[in-house]
Amino acid sequence: MPQQSRKIALVTGSTDGVGRFVAERGRAVVATIAALGGGARFLPADLSDLAAVRGLADRVAKAAPRLDLLINNAGIGSGGTGAQRQVNAAGVELRFAVNYLAGFALTAHLLPLLRKSAPARVVNVASVGQRAIDFDDVMLERSYSGGRAYMQSKLAQVMFTFDLAQRLAGTGVTVNCLHPATYMATTMVRQAGVNPWSTVEEGGQAILQLAASPVVEGRSGLYFNGLAESRADAQAYDSKARAKLWALSLQLAGLTDEGI
Ligand SMILES: NC(=O)c1ccc[n+]([C@@H]2O[C@H](COP(=O)([O-])OP(=O)(O)OC[C@H]3O[C@@H](n4cnc5c(N)ncnc54)[C@H](OP(=O)(O)O)[C@@H]3O)[C@@H](O)[C@H]2O)c1
Repeated sequence: MPQQSRKIALVTGSTDGVGRFVAERGRAVVATIAALGGGARFLPADLSDLAAVRGLADRVAKAAPRLDLLINNAGIGSGGTGAQRQVNAAGVELRFAVNYLAGFALTAHLLPLLRKSAPARVVNVASVGQRAIDFDDVMLERSYSGGRAYMQSKLAQVMFTFDLAQRLAGTGVTVNCLHPATYMATTMVRQAGVNPWSTVEEGGQAILQLAASPVVEGRSGLYFNGLAESRADAQAYDSKARAKLWALSLQLAGLTDEGI
């Protein structure tokens, strides 16, 4: 981030794909700023496991005196093993758990640090692939497909973004989300058997815009398609649906509204 003081960012899913580009790019930016002394640490965690998410947050809070930026980027696509319904150890549908619930819980655990570090930013890497959540079958026990699981998890990220932005109004912590780019040349796209349409650089630039650009400074609760502000699926603007998702997420994550 183009600031004089040392800034600290946490990028999930930075071992591969667009997250790796963002993490490496962030590192390069850090390396070029006057203060130098920037660096990166790899904190392994299986984000399908909420105890591991908690552990990651604890390690971050212990190691980092501040947190200026959190990018919830880790995710699994619709292809590969996604053809069959999978659940985590707690029985939560796997794409809902990794793509959405992990980011929800990680952000909630790190909010005290983010608030303390304000101005700070949260960026949720969602997708233009969104599908309305059926609250009678969120775990997709009746109507599973890999695509449906992926798309409902991505819309959940957008809904979470909008709600959290409202809750954090006036705190100096902004929350935005985006579709980085369509079919970037990454592992998840290869696993889906799709020929890439775009590069990780394109998607990475879109993520970095929300992460560091003055264009969105102080702005919150936005959904971007690449570099342009856009509109998400209609369910994201349905406050009742968002409230249902919020309540379910708290319950699944074993959290309460206190402190959020
Ligand atoms: N590719 C696209 O065209 C596209 C389009 C729209 C949105 N997106 C979104 O962009 C984000 C990044 O996707 P990508 O295309 O860069 O994917 P990718 O190359 O497959 O990378 C996914 C990253 O997420 C991590 N991850 C997956 N499951 C995890 C788990 N259980 N615990 C911890 N980390 C986990 C992976 O870690 P490992 O290396 O350990 O597996 C990897 O670092 C995702 O949220 C995706 O939905 C991508």
